[in-house]
Amino acid sequence: MSKILEISDLKALAKRRVPKMFFDYADSGAWTEGTYRANEEDFRKVKLRQRVLVDMTNRSLESTMIGQKVSMPVALSPTGLTGMQHADGEMLAAKAAEEFGVPFTLSTMSICSIEDVASATSKPFWFQLYVMRDREFVKNLIDRAKAAKCSALVLTLDLQILGQRHKDLRNGLSAPPKFTPKHIWQMATRPLWCMQMLQTKRRSFRQHRRPRQERLRSLLALVVDRRTVRPAALLGKCRGDQEDVGRTADPEGHSRRRGRQDGGAHRADAIIVSNHGGRQLDGAPSSISMLPKIVDAVGHQIEVHVDGGIRSGQDVLKAVALGAQGTYIGRPFLYGLGAGGKAGVTTALDIIRKELDITMALCGKRDIHDINRDVIAE
Ligand code: GLV
Repeated sequence: MSKILEISDLKALAKRRVPKMFFDYADSGAWTEGTYRANEEDFRKVKLRQRVLVDMTNRSLESTMIGQKVSMPVALSPTGLTGMQHADGEMLAAKAAEEFGVPFTLSTMSICSIEDVASATSKPFWFQLYVMRDREFVKNLIDRAKAAKCSALVLTLDLQILGQRHKDLRNGLSAPPKFTPKHIWQMATRPLWCMQMLQTKRRSFRQHRRPRQERLRSLLALVVDRRTVRPAALLGKCRGDQEDVGRTADPEGHSRRRGRQDGGAHRADAIIVSNHGGRQLDGAPSSISMLPKIVDAVGHQIEVHVDGGIRSGQDVLKAVALGAQGTYIGRPFLYGLGAGGKAGVTTALDIIRKELDITMALCGKRDIHDINRDVIAE
């Protein structure tokens, strides 16, 4: 991978190695993909102030996310069908993240199960859950995540129904994947991917061991359940809306202000400013454009994290400067995985770390904790 210098190089390689319907699944947004594009474009609109004549030795990117040490403030996002980008994808990505010292978040819509990932790692990873109607199923997943020593639960709040993603519809991609002659042709043109897939038994949703039709349908029919078991740490993923943020950051106060007695049971330890990678409400503002408003509104009460559109270490620095304690990468690690398995994920993380470090130095800072709005050129 000697000519791989930036995340877009990994993307180009992944496109050549991963069957079209799975590559497109990762590289898609809802409807016109306007929000998906805005997530990336709005990062480019944020400009940085360069500093000169300052000491740049002994730099440190180490930080914490929800009190857990991270080698840089970047976690791997929960992404569906990760094990279709590369055989055993979730296990490989989790191992790469663990070695790198950043959190890995396993999606409910994963190919490898919680137990598979636990068997491939030795430190706690995070688990993502949708808010689902089938409470017995939710409780079972949480119990399994606790048994696997997951140290945080990331609750996705914006998938009451699935956004319309045209690439998936055109490709005929279903969950779980059902293979038509067109799909078989797409896979046949990716022989390395096929060979690796043939060597694993993990080729469908293993999270749902006895997938009753009812349960799979409930993945997409979601309601908020305030009585779910509280894990070690809880992160709420919601779009940048003051009302939603208020409910997640301070449910008691939010309910009190509305004269209700039902708040309090679902307070999160951190909130993730997210529009689901532009995959749900097309037309929603970009994550980075909403971040400063949300930090100003609730940053004193709760840790604020952000995902959506991060394609470089420089984007990470911009997010941290605008108040994010943590950031998440989804597509960058998926491209790495598709391009080269575990080594590809490590390459994606290396690229981001290097870009973050160089940008921090040129902004005249030596410690990620010193990054604030001063580094943004107004
Ligand atoms: C699942 O959450 C997806 O975005 O596909």
